[in-house]
Amino acid sequence: MTGGKGSDSRVADGGATGAGGEGDPEALRTRALEALTVARERTALLTSCVEDGELTAQHSPLMSPLVWDLAHIGNQEEQWLWRAVAGREALRPEIDSLYDAFEHPRATRPSLPLLAPGEARAYAADVRVRVLDVLERTPLEGRPLVDAGFAFGMIAQHEQQHDETMLITHQLRKGPAALTAPPPPVRRSGPLPPEVLVPGGPFTMGTSDEPWALDNERPAHARLVPAFHIDTTPVTNGAYLAFMADGGYTERRWWRPEGWAQIREHSIEAPLFWRREGGQWLRRRFGVTEPVPEEEPVLHVSWYEADAYARWAGRRLPSETEWEKAARYDPGSGRSRRYPWGDAEPGPEHANLGQRHLRPAPAGSYPEGASPLGVRQLIGDVWEWTASDFLPYPGFTAFPYKEYSEVFFGPDHKVLRGGSFAVDPVACRGTFRNWDLPVRRQIFSGFRTARSAELD
Ligand code: AVJ
Ligand code: FE
Repeated sequence: MTGGKGSDSRVADGGATGAGGEGDPEALRTRALEALTVARERTALLTSCVEDGELTAQHSPLMSPLVWDLAHIGNQEEQWLWRAVAGREALRPEIDSLYDAFEHPRATRPSLPLLAPGEARAYAADVRVRVLDVLERTPLEGRPLVDAGFAFGMIAQHEQQHDETMLITHQLRKGPAALTAPPPPVRRSGPLPPEVLVPGGPFTMGTSDEPWALDNERPAHARLVPAFHIDTTPVTNGAYLAFMADGGYTERRWWRPEGWAQIREHSIEAPLFWRREGGQWLRRRFGVTEPVPEEEPVLHVSWYEADAYARWAGRRLPSETEWEKAARYDPGSGRSRRYPWGDAEPGPEHANLGQRHLRPAPAGSYPEGASPLGVRQLIGDVWEWTASDFLPYPGFTAFPYKEYSEVFFGPDHKVLRGGSFAVDPVACRGTFRNWDLPVRRQIFSGFRTARSAELD
């Protein structure tokens, strides 16, 4: 195979040096061990903060029982690191089909003969002990699956993706708060311009040399992007309230037909988890109801809601290409960076990631995470809907399996970029692509808007 990773460098990424540790097998091993360990600590927290009965319950037909995610995490790790990387015999081949996401839709998973919470924990722990031994012994080169520790990074990202999914299940769960975290630090500079001009011209999208980038982020390729303006920050609750007050949900002209049908059928008149009490809008956040904070980026909106807001504002959603150019393009050097702030790994000063805070930071936060052009909060806080369908880049090759990305390509899924407060840095970067159906609202989704510059 040509590999979804590593080989193609028709367009150089411009010197991005990747996750660090290439060429130093011990540094790579340490990095993989840390990523796996951090993921498991998060999984343990998300599955130990409630009684076991809450792990087997169905909190929403949109989600799996938490105990399914737990054993699925272990099963994916067994399939890729124990079986595919190490070439060992299956430990529990009889449970593979239970934890195959394509065999059983989420709504039906509670009725499957799933491993009980204690069994699921023990299974995932057993796989992990074996995998740590594999990590110590496996040369991290010579095969595309293990080059630069790819499969270990892929499995750490997979676990962190399910940790975000489990946090969504916790948000949907009724009952008192089980998880708490401090609010994001207040660190804001002076007033910001509402939008930033991104100059027209070519830029390099995607990557061929980021070692743990997944197949759909590859390969790096040139795109010509006309000049456009993009919001400096994600759209806030305050701005969204103005849309609501101005007939946002009652005037059909702002809506695509499918979006209008959805809000009519389900009587939607605000973001998910909002309710009106007296004259005030309140929102429920991990079991706590509080007034909607106007400075915070709006959360839990569908693509249709984002699209309608943008039309009301006389603007539009950015394309995925525009989003990535705003996030990665350095006008000084002409090259694309790994992150808006440069090539350094995300630190707590750059972005609100990793479930450190269980909410987005106020718009304008994280000045040290700004892009060279001054765009804020592109990474972390909220996933940002883009206008674009989820499609392969030119030269895409599925790797190592078609069911990660390829089966989802097409017009049904819209791309989200940038990552939320709920995703770990290992599963978030300037090139990372997320996707979902345009009706989805339980995810940690927000958006920012854009406009073409030739209309100036
Ligand atoms: C990339 C977040 C859309 O959760 O459906 C997890 C990630 N793929 N297990 C998902 C994923 C397989 C995926 N998303
Ligand atoms: Fe999965």
